This record gives sequence, C-alpha cells and structure tokens, in this order.
Amino acid sequence: MTTTTSLTQDELKTLVGQAALQYVVPGEIVGVGTGSTVNKFIDALASIKDQIKGAVSSSVASTERLQALGITVFDANAVESLSVYIDGADEIDGKGHMVKGGGAALTREKIVAALAQRFVCIADESKLVSALGRFPLPVEVIPIAANHVARRFAAMGAQANLRLANGLPMVTDNGQHILDVKGLTIADPLAFESEINQWPGVVTVGVFAHQKASVCLLGTAQGVKTLVF
Ligand code: 5RP
Repeated sequence: MTTTTSLTQDELKTLVGQAALQYVVPGEIVGVGTGSTVNKFIDALASIKDQIKGAVSSSVASTERLQALGITVFDANAVESLSVYIDGADEIDGKGHMVKGGGAALTREKIVAALAQRFVCIADESKLVSALGRFPLPVEVIPIAANHVARRFAAMGAQANLRLANGLPMVTDNGQHILDVKGLTIADPLAFESEINQWPGVVTVGVFAHQKASVCLLGTAQGVKTLVF
C-alpha cells in the first residue's frame, strides 16, 4: 500500500530550500535570489556558513536576511563569476524557462544569474506550467515610460497594471516601477524576452529564457524531484 503524505506549500519550500545546499560549492561565493522559497534556502545556508566565503544577493531583503544570519554579502561588482545561483520562480516550464519578479527583484536577479555558470531553481510543484503566461508577468520600467509600455502591451491584447504598495506605485530596489501584465500568451519565451527588453523604458522583463534554469528542484508530495534542462 502506498501512503501519500500531504505537505503544505511552506513545507515543500523548506524541502527544496534544504535540497539546494547540495549545489553550494564549499569555499566559494554563492548567488542568492529573493522570495519566500529562497528565504528557506538562506536559513539552510546558515547551517553551513563557515564552509562558504559568502553570498552575492539579488535584493535588499535577501541581503538583510543573509547578514542577520552572519553570512558575508559581496557586491556583484566584486565578483567575476559564480558557480551557482539559487532562486525561486513564479512559473517554470518543461524547458527551464521561467517567469520571475513576483517579489519585484527581477532586475538584480537577472544580473546575479548572469554571473553564474548554473541556475538552480527551487520551487514547489504549483510553479510548474506547460506554458508561461498564467502568472501576471512582472516588467520593471522607468516610471515615465509606464503608460507608454502599458499601451504597447494593450496593443498585444494584454493588460498591464502598475503594481501598488500602500496605494502608491511600488518602488523597486532600483528606484523604478513594476507593471504586472495579464492576458499574455508566451509561446516563444526567448523571442518574447528579446522583443520586450528592447522597448524604450523597459528595464527588465520577468521572462528568464536567455538565462533559464539549468536545474529545478521541485517540491512535490512525493519528495524533491530534480529536473535537468
Ligand atoms: C522575486 C522572485 C521570486 O523568485 C518569485 O516571486 C518566487 O517567490 P516565492 O518563492 O516567494 O514564491 O522572482 O522577484
């Protein structure tokens, strides 16, 4: 008889956060993403903090959490390359393409991911999709371009909404704004990312296809599944 243990989403996040430790290279600096799943990884990383040199972080929030746990945080400019970058995702497809930016850290996430030889995505199974586009796509924009960029999405049949915090436009760690775009069909993530990224005023589009995941540790009811892309 097979028994299925039902784990909460939070427990699945803890599982994958701990599983990601196997990708951390002793003596090196590790790239660290942002979000509730990464917070579980950061907590796990604290248990081996004496075995690593430190971290490069993708947000003020992750930096604060890392430092509070006694992990040294290096500026991305101080690092030429990283063996591994560990981060969550809002969606991941069967090829390792992702939508990211639900936590508004997409621009720094893409920068730190670009430094890394390997992107390890940690996610619970609710994030696995057959095609990207269900989660409203985060796009970081220069504030004066927000309406223009929103009109360009409307012309594609999508709807872009300015992300708010306490009734005001949310301001990212980079001093910019975020549009959340609903109603998109992202059939070709590579081409879509290239196209949106060259619209004037777009800082970063939350499709990670050019810097897709190399590996995904997916938290499922049956345990952690490793998907290799
Ligand atoms: C932050 C991100 C996060 O990785 C993404 O939003 C997933 O977050 P969580 O682990 O909390 O579900 O891209 O900008």
